[in-house]
Amino acid sequence: MCASLLSSPESGRLVAEGATLTVQFVSRIWNALAGDRRLMVWSVVCGLVFTALGIIPPLLIRQMLIWIRDPSVAGSFWVLGSLVAVIYLFRGVFRYLYGLCSHIAAYRTLHRLSLAVYRHLQKMSPAYLNRRHSGNLVARTMGDVAAIEDYIAHGIPESMLAVVIPVTMSVVLLVINWQLALVALAPLPVIAVLVYVIARRTRNMWRGVRSRFAEVSGRIQDHLGGLAVIQSFRAEAAMAKRVEAESLEYRDRIIHANRWSLVPSGVIESASGAGLVLIIWAGGWITTDPNATSGLKVDIADLVVFLLYLGQIVLPFLRLANLTDTLQKARASADRVFELLDTPADIVDREGATVPENPSWSIGFENVSFGYSEDAVVLREVSFRVNEGETVALVGATGVGKTTACHLLSRFYEPDAGVVKLGDVDVAAVPLSWLRDQIALVSQDVFLLAGTIRENLLLGREGVSDERLEEAVRVSGSDEFVAELVDGLETVVGERGIRLSGGQKQRIALCRALLKDAPVLVLDEATSAVDGATESRIKQALRRATQGRTVLVVAHRLSTITSADRIVVLESGRVVETGTYEEMSAADGPFARLCRVREDVEW
Ligand SMILES: Nc1ncnc2c1ncn2[C@@H]1O[C@H](COP(=O)(O)OP(=O)(O)OP(=O)(O)O)[C@@H](O)[C@H]1O
Ligand SMILES: [Mg+2]
Repeated sequence: MCASLLSSPESGRLVAEGATLTVQFVSRIWNALAGDRRLMVWSVVCGLVFTALGIIPPLLIRQMLIWIRDPSVAGSFWVLGSLVAVIYLFRGVFRYLYGLCSHIAAYRTLHRLSLAVYRHLQKMSPAYLNRRHSGNLVARTMGDVAAIEDYIAHGIPESMLAVVIPVTMSVVLLVINWQLALVALAPLPVIAVLVYVIARRTRNMWRGVRSRFAEVSGRIQDHLGGLAVIQSFRAEAAMAKRVEAESLEYRDRIIHANRWSLVPSGVIESASGAGLVLIIWAGGWITTDPNATSGLKVDIADLVVFLLYLGQIVLPFLRLANLTDTLQKARASADRVFELLDTPADIVDREGATVPENPSWSIGFENVSFGYSEDAVVLREVSFRVNEGETVALVGATGVGKTTACHLLSRFYEPDAGVVKLGDVDVAAVPLSWLRDQIALVSQDVFLLAGTIRENLLLGREGVSDERLEEAVRVSGSDEFVAELVDGLETVVGERGIRLSGGQKQRIALCRALLKDAPVLVLDEATSAVDGATESRIKQALRRATQGRTVLVVAHRLSTITSADRIVVLESGRVVETGTYEEMSAADGPFARLCRVREDVEW
């Protein structure tokens, strides 16, 4: 199998490619080790000392045998025995140190890599995250990075030892008796090649296995997140079927991968006896007479060293073979982590992006076209303007692209054509961080972190004074329900805390946006889930709080729309009407039609 694999030109190319990839990979891991390289080197040094110490005892036993045979040259057995005791003691110490150093280096690297992956993901656009299953990404971030630990803590030192131990022992055996060594070591290269070839074969299998696993866990996470919906639609069985299908695929792949990756340890177990067999076969030629003219001359003391070494020489191979699937998994994971880290962020500061000298806070959409994919255009040549200090309402049927327009302003996506401007500059021409500092966005889907209400309110604004916080809580209408909570602002919400109602969440999001104190406020259905009375209270307070700010508000409710200075109506991705509420109600155009439909459904 290996002969054919290594001989054809195609496989030659593959091997060369694999070697290049391995070199690249090892240098990547080396870079990732960063400040802990010295520790890793220490680990390897300790491993080598550990190995060297393992080679000495059989040589001392050989000495013992020589002394027993010829007492006239014998030294102190006490000294010899004590030496062996000391060697084993140090062997233990160095074994511990080598494991300790490699694990410290590995876990430090793990910490750095997890952070690097998280930071990198934070730079990614929503478009990128949408394309990937979020559960998949979580599995990637944590699972894959954790798997790299195996590679660093076990892979690097064990692979090193798997080369060093057999080579050193072979050299010692060759020096002691080269003819017998050639006989006894003949199976070694075959074992090494077999382990290598099979390990290569399983690598790609493990890649597939891990990505399946990410899919299954992503799916389960997704389902559990929406369990109430699944239960209310009695879709448990159908959903379980989907999980079953993916889990089955995972099961089959991992079994297939195991079928191969368990082969090397079996092969090595069998092959480990081969050296012994060869020595016994050669027994007929062996003579202990140093003056013999024919046969294989062997000293009995040397033979014992051979037997003791043969028992140990394949151990590192066996350990490596047992580690192979762990290492393959780790390598596949590491490849994926590096692939993720190599994916450039798609929305970044353009070259030469500068903060405008005299910023102004109008919003301008100029012939903006945008689609999430080529065949699903959402906005078509949309143009409208929100002057500085003005409040403009964006209205239109559901799914027409209002949220999309808000996201284009914050540059979560980039328009396919046209320009979105803040003041007189393209939002793409200013630094992203500056742009987002100028815009306080209350999203339609409110996201609350697992933590206290206070932490959620102060997201990114940790230095705010208590007075300002209280004022924002009042203006956003959050004071009512916060007062009823026993722990007030310290109440834990989200994953591990209480659940807030939709309207309560919206008010927290509004409060958060007010605390940001940005010149531009974008409210995407910010009060859609609160009752009419609360909304009108919030509205009045908001009007005072947003005085002089530029506000783009998306709303379905007529009451919210009427207080805007102007209204922009979107229909089929285009701006079909712009004007004040009075003008448009009188005009009996698209806006009036939209209102009539709304009135029909409002109870
Ligand atoms: N992340 C996305 N990927 C692909 N398509 C999307 C994405 N987000 C929205 N869409 C599609 O783009 C269109 C506009 O969506 P958008 O959320 O902007 O509508 P909207 O006007 O805010 O609607 P609503 O009033 O219901 O909030 C919809 O057809 C929607 O299916
Ligand atoms: Mg929307």
